[in-house]
Amino acid sequence: MIDDDPFWWRQAAVYQIYPRSFADANGDGIGDLPGIGSRVSYLRRLAVDAVWLSPFYPSALVDGGYDVDDYRDVDPRLGTLTDFDALVSDLRGAGIRLIVDIVPNHTSNRHEWFVEALASPPGSAARDRYIFRDGLGPDKSIPPADWTSAFGGPAWEPVGDGQWYLHFFATEQPDLNWDNREVRHDFLKTLKFWSDRGVDGFRIDVAHGLAKRLGEELPSQAALDALPRDDGGHPLWDRDEVHEIYAEWRALFNSYTPPRTAVAEAWVESSRRHRYASPEGLGQAFNFDLLEANFDAKEFRRIVDENLALAALSGSSTTWVLSNHDVVRHATRYGLPEPADPAEKHGSEWLRSGGTFPVLDAERGLRRARAATLFELALPGSAYLYQGEELGLHEVADIPDERRQDPAFFRNPGVDIGRDGCRVPIPWTPYGPSFGFGSGEPHLPQPPSWSAVAVEVQATDPNSTFWLYRDALALRRALQTGEELEWIPSKADVVHFRRPNGWETVMNFGTTPVALPEGEVLLFSSPLDGLEVPGESTVWLRRG
Ligand code: GLC
Ligand code: CA
Repeated sequence: MIDDDPFWWRQAAVYQIYPRSFADANGDGIGDLPGIGSRVSYLRRLAVDAVWLSPFYPSALVDGGYDVDDYRDVDPRLGTLTDFDALVSDLRGAGIRLIVDIVPNHTSNRHEWFVEALASPPGSAARDRYIFRDGLGPDKSIPPADWTSAFGGPAWEPVGDGQWYLHFFATEQPDLNWDNREVRHDFLKTLKFWSDRGVDGFRIDVAHGLAKRLGEELPSQAALDALPRDDGGHPLWDRDEVHEIYAEWRALFNSYTPPRTAVAEAWVESSRRHRYASPEGLGQAFNFDLLEANFDAKEFRRIVDENLALAALSGSSTTWVLSNHDVVRHATRYGLPEPADPAEKHGSEWLRSGGTFPVLDAERGLRRARAATLFELALPGSAYLYQGEELGLHEVADIPDERRQDPAFFRNPGVDIGRDGCRVPIPWTPYGPSFGFGSGEPHLPQPPSWSAVAVEVQATDPNSTFWLYRDALALRRALQTGEELEWIPSKADVVHFRRPNGWETVMNFGTTPVALPEGEVLLFSSPLDGLEVPGESTVWLRRG
């Protein structure tokens, strides 16, 4: 079923699995590779083209596995390399490709390189693989700079001998020095290791952070913040030289048939995104614009136009994301009070700040989420779906503090509740100690209400969100041919577009119904009432 088509990724539906929270085969409360293997028939039923696995490598799980101890092995709690091989072959048997997550900006502090760096003196080759600096002041007890980490708190950590190391994320995630040849060489080895094992592609974590130019004098955080981010010259982010690294990777990817693919997680100015998506580089880059947008017709339409144009610059296809393991689930984002000022965003950051969730209209959130999903799945480009969105899951807001795991929570007490709420284990059955996730207590608590939204419950309900995803993905696979999109004039609160094959999508962002255009109705996100598209709903039609 899987062929050698080198462009399979261009309009693929990719399903992101967060391995610890998908399915737990051995009952220790942590999802694992055999658990994923046991759910391949579910993925096949969903009709996804590929699975993207978030990190499953040995890790202390300080940052959910994005703190990697060893890039070429499987965490023993999650399985073995033999389990990995079995998973690749089961997925392939089901016609599903596999993408794995590569974390090149930093290792974990338990990686053998970092252990060696700490045991080695300042100026040693072992320290050169990371970013070490002398502290300031007579006894070097002042950090080399006042930089803050992405998770809050300082970005420099002392090691006790006058030197400090840089970590843009948690303290346990030291940043690598990509000017070091050995670092470069080792990642090529890792990419080859997984490619040889049958992996079809890679998701590159923090792809815009690898190249750094620190210089002798380090600027202050305020000076860094004041620098432009869109000219390739920022000392830390989105530097032009980062693409030299990806050109080397591309040569390796292209030595396989079909070439291995890669998608960049690069939080850069949209005007610079196409550099990551270039065919001489990673080939594709995430576009997070919809994920950050308000539920607004004009904004959605602008984002589509802009991203189709940006994709054309690199010749790549664009990517669409509504949810992932870092953001508040879209069913929840869309159920919040409207921002008073449309320029203000009620996105994940806003939601997580203040340590609590504002009042939520859960039903409305889900209604809009279903509409946005049908909109997304009708667009040209690849769609990246996050496990559980096909069940209409909401963010879990009431995780007790003592059960939380995300460093973003620990490093920002009272300011950021962190990302655990979108990482709660999937409910498979309406009963059992963890709703079918496994036989033990899940590593994050599931809300009792999830009994009603379990896979087994939704699978028998044609009105469920699971059926909507399944039908949408099957139809998308059947209808999707070219990558063209043509807008059809519509009312202010409505977007209407046509794809090849007479496939049309109408999304009504407003709350009053609008007339249903002519055509055969294929699918709708909320029940149709006569010849109207209800408020906050999307309809797929076929015409001609
Ligand atoms: C990326 C990941 C996120 C992780 C961070 C550091 O943004 O998506 O989950 O915490 O990188 O690796
Ligand atoms: Ca397990």
